[in-house]
Amino acid sequence: MIEAANRLNTVEEYYFSKKLREVNLLIASGKPIINLGIGSPDMQPPQKVVDALNEGFSNPSAHKYQSYQGLPELREAIAGFYKEQFKVHLSPGTEILPLMGSKEGIMHISMAYLNDGDGVLIPNPGYPTYASVTRLVGAESVFYELDESNNWLPDFKALEKLDLSKVKLMWVNYPHMPTGAQPSKFLFEELVAFGKKHSILIVNDNPYSFVLNDNPRSILEVEGAKEVCLELNSLSKTFNMAGWRVGMVVGDSKHINNVLKVKSNMDSGMFYGIQKGAVEALKCSNMWFSALNSVYKQRRDLVWQLADALNCTYDKNATGLFVWAKLPAFVKSEEYIDLILKNNHIFITPGTIFGSKGEGYIRFSLCASTEVLEEAIARVK
Ligand SMILES: Cc1ncc(COP(=O)(O)O)c(C=O)c1O
Repeated sequence: MIEAANRLNTVEEYYFSKKLREVNLLIASGKPIINLGIGSPDMQPPQKVVDALNEGFSNPSAHKYQSYQGLPELREAIAGFYKEQFKVHLSPGTEILPLMGSKEGIMHISMAYLNDGDGVLIPNPGYPTYASVTRLVGAESVFYELDESNNWLPDFKALEKLDLSKVKLMWVNYPHMPTGAQPSKFLFEELVAFGKKHSILIVNDNPYSFVLNDNPRSILEVEGAKEVCLELNSLSKTFNMAGWRVGMVVGDSKHINNVLKVKSNMDSGMFYGIQKGAVEALKCSNMWFSALNSVYKQRRDLVWQLADALNCTYDKNATGLFVWAKLPAFVKSEEYIDLILKNNHIFITPGTIFGSKGEGYIRFSLCASTEVLEEAIARVK
């Protein structure tokens, strides 16, 4: 018997990977399932992005290995995007590393900074990958709780009371998934000060700032942030390019170099055409975001109606690609979504996959057309 490594005992198969098998079995048996679970944008990327990818194929050097650091043109486009959108200055040569999505950055950053037993501050509720990668690299998760009563923002008084002596890294994710909570400049200032005080690397995972959000922000807007902060960003949700796998990590050159040391030993540069497409995406004007968000706004209105029909409550000021809704008192998330799946053939994500603080909540994705959402409302009513 060839045994898998011990580290595999620390993680389970990803919830969606398991649950979607069950959902697909229901579909195969003829059930008309509506999937409002996963946040995979269903709209198309800008046409010029697809054209640039296609043109990329005919470049004779397209099929060669590409630079580990990405095309200079791509790094310049990322720098231009950060300057235009966040007024953050990044040096394209040293402060930007293109990634295959921001998810891979979570592993690369963890590999670059964490030793066995180091502590990692992880939001509860939060994106499950922070905790699973922490376990895979042998570090210890130290969960910090976010609560609706504090608008899902970190409670710094509670953080200061924790034993931070072993903590080396803190994951933050604002705008926050799954709750849609928005950051203020003040929150980012507090985080930077906290990172400096305790010598903790603060990593803001920022893939949702352009979805239904009038105030996109970067943690690097804060003066002196680069010293202790990295930011992950992604084209997945901003430009409907989740399947392309393009993201980035940005920050001070010493941190970027550490991540590059890991990345360059694990994979090679992204396909040329994908990089050319990404360059075009990053040059889109704000009209792109207005068009995208006008569709998401219509969908969100319908999801709010669906949530009303299910007797849930929600925050109309929340941002992002999801509606985070509170169930009636004493109703359990997983039991509830199983019931809706069985009775109404609608798949919704239970809040508990994001941690214990997600109990009593469910998450609806906006990645479904208005027709589909109307059908979901009709089924529930
Ligand atoms: C909070 C958060 N971070 C990162 C990711 C991964 O995004 P990417 O497609 O850029 O890897 C997701 C995707 O769902 C997410 O919700």
